[in-house]
Amino acid sequence: MLDPRWILEALPVGVWVAQVPSGQVVYANPEFRNIMGMDAVEESRIRDAPATYGIFDLEGRPYPVDRLPFSRVVMTGRAVTVDDLVIHRADGREVNVRAFAYPLLANGGDLTHVLIAFIDITAEMTAEAERRQTELRLAFAVNHAPIVIWAADAMGVVIFSEGAGLASLGLKSGELVGQNLFDLYKDHASIPGFLRRALTGESFWYTVQVGEAVYETWVNPLTDVAGGVRGIAGLSNDVTALRKFEANAIQSDRVIALGTLAASVAHEINNPLTYILGHLDLLGESLKQLVWVTQGLADPPRRDFSDLADVMRESLEPVRAGTERIASITQELRTFSGPFVGTAVVDVQAAVASVLKLVGKELESRAEVDVDLRKTSPVRGDPARLVQVILNLVVNAMQALEVDRARTNRVWVSAADEGDAVVIEVADNGPGVPSEERERIFEPFRTTKGVGDGTGLGLFVCRSIVHAWSGTVAVDDRPGGGARFRVVLPIARDNDSALTPAVVEPSTVAVGAHFRGHVMVVDDEPPVANVLRLQLEAAGYRVTLETEAERALQRLTSGSDGIDLVYCDLMMKGMSGMDLADALATRAPSQLDRVVFMTGGTFTSRARDFRDVWAARCVDKPFDVVTETAHRLEGRRLD
Ligand SMILES: Nc1ncnc2c1ncn2[C@@H]1O[C@H](COP(=O)(O)OP(=O)(O)OP(=O)(O)O)[C@@H](O)[C@H]1O
Ligand SMILES: [Mg+2]
Repeated sequence: MLDPRWILEALPVGVWVAQVPSGQVVYANPEFRNIMGMDAVEESRIRDAPATYGIFDLEGRPYPVDRLPFSRVVMTGRAVTVDDLVIHRADGREVNVRAFAYPLLANGGDLTHVLIAFIDITAEMTAEAERRQTELRLAFAVNHAPIVIWAADAMGVVIFSEGAGLASLGLKSGELVGQNLFDLYKDHASIPGFLRRALTGESFWYTVQVGEAVYETWVNPLTDVAGGVRGIAGLSNDVTALRKFEANAIQSDRVIALGTLAASVAHEINNPLTYILGHLDLLGESLKQLVWVTQGLADPPRRDFSDLADVMRESLEPVRAGTERIASITQELRTFSGPFVGTAVVDVQAAVASVLKLVGKELESRAEVDVDLRKTSPVRGDPARLVQVILNLVVNAMQALEVDRARTNRVWVSAADEGDAVVIEVADNGPGVPSEERERIFEPFRTTKGVGDGTGLGLFVCRSIVHAWSGTVAVDDRPGGGARFRVVLPIARDNDSALTPAVVEPSTVAVGAHFRGHVMVVDDEPPVANVLRLQLEAAGYRVTLETEAERALQRLTSGSDGIDLVYCDLMMKGMSGMDLADALATRAPSQLDRVVFMTGGTFTSRARDFRDVWAARCVDKPFDVVTETAHRLEGRRLD
């Protein structure tokens, strides 16, 4: 017969026996000593266990003696298993123990001993704690990341659905459970197809849009041991916000690229436009003279000349109209030549007042005008561009009203603070904008106006400017009929800095009396210089041409030739108009007063700064040189 002690000595389970009721240990096998990290245990008693062996619970508190397995068997007479014992060994190691305690009865049925088996479950407990940690981390990620983890059975019934990505569908974790995906998305164009494909055993990515939400999903078939498909599991990334952001980024990149292109194209076009328009004027003039000269002739040559002149005039008219249209388009595109980022703190009220000063008269002749200007907080922007925004809206309102109904036509203009924004409203009681057009009218070249009346750039420019200042502009129905445009601009935070008043330079003025005088034209493009000369000469001015700024500088500083006015191109090869201005400022400041700088689009930052500082001394090409000269010289004489 095998000695059972031999088996106990070899078992990888700690076994010991304690006497009842004393708790005296009468036997312990080597594995028990091993678990406890001590040599002799026979002399110890259960009662002293927490102190002697360092027995604690999972929370690190000393294990109550009456809760120990030994005590519980003594109390109940029944076997018990616990797995919340932690032995703090003398060598510093902590061992998790599962204990099994069993009553040993004497022949008479009395409880004389308790047999206790210890199993070291440290590795198991550590793994369990790690698993719980991982689960917590996963749950944290799933509940906060824009994803949905889901699974469905072979019928398409959702078994689980978890994740913050459900929020875009207006759902919470678990809410889809029990629903059938085939029923839920039966009207969706692609989801049922993707689900069926996954149920054939294929794994793949797909992207779907559900309402506003967009998900990129990885699906995987769930298979049983035999390889049969039991269902599908999916990981859906909610990319709604990302897609919107991408679309916006692409859009604004496109706008910036287009803006740069538009500004440089406008610059290139403005020079030829200047001389085309100039020559058209000259041609018209020559035609008049031709008719006048041939009037003395006898018929038939006189009649032939006059018929021919009529034909030529008829051809000239559309050429002029078309060219002027091109000029007005390049004028609008010029807005894109600089960054829109507002650097000044602007007074909205003053900008609205400027607009009313500019077009008030015409507006009042067309409609009854209702102005409601409250004290508004300053906004960050650019005064001239803010005027341009409001002006475009007011002119549109005016154009939406029928000319011959001034008594019933009305235009409302208001500005007021609303929360942390300033709101400018321009409304009219015209036909309004149909809802399907409300976004489209902000696109470039979208116009319902006839050729020559509108380019369709007004609102595009408005929105580009307002967006650059983190504002919005939109249109809706005016209660009571008509259109209502609302510009919302964030209030400038550092509103203690000085306000820049909105200054508007009238670009053209009424033709005044012509004063003869001596005009110098400095331009390195001969066709531009020539046409200006021809136009000025035809109007009775003496003209000196220079193609280099250096030579102009020499003449102006020699002080000999009594030049009344100088038109100088701003951007020239070699010495530029800006260099000329710098040189004159130090060498002959009084001559600088006579110089007008011509710009065809300022797309260097130096040119932009120059234009801002010298706005009153600059004129944009193409321009009416005769009117401009009359204005400049007349203005000077009045000084
Ligand atoms: N107040 C309004 N009432 C009705 N329709 C309007 C109003 N304002 C703008 N629209 C519509 O929006 C279109 C685009 O306006 P936008 O200012 O961009 O260009 P435009 O006025 O046609 O030309 P321009 O470049 O000369 O401003 C207009 O042609 C018109 O159809
Ligand atoms: Mg317009």
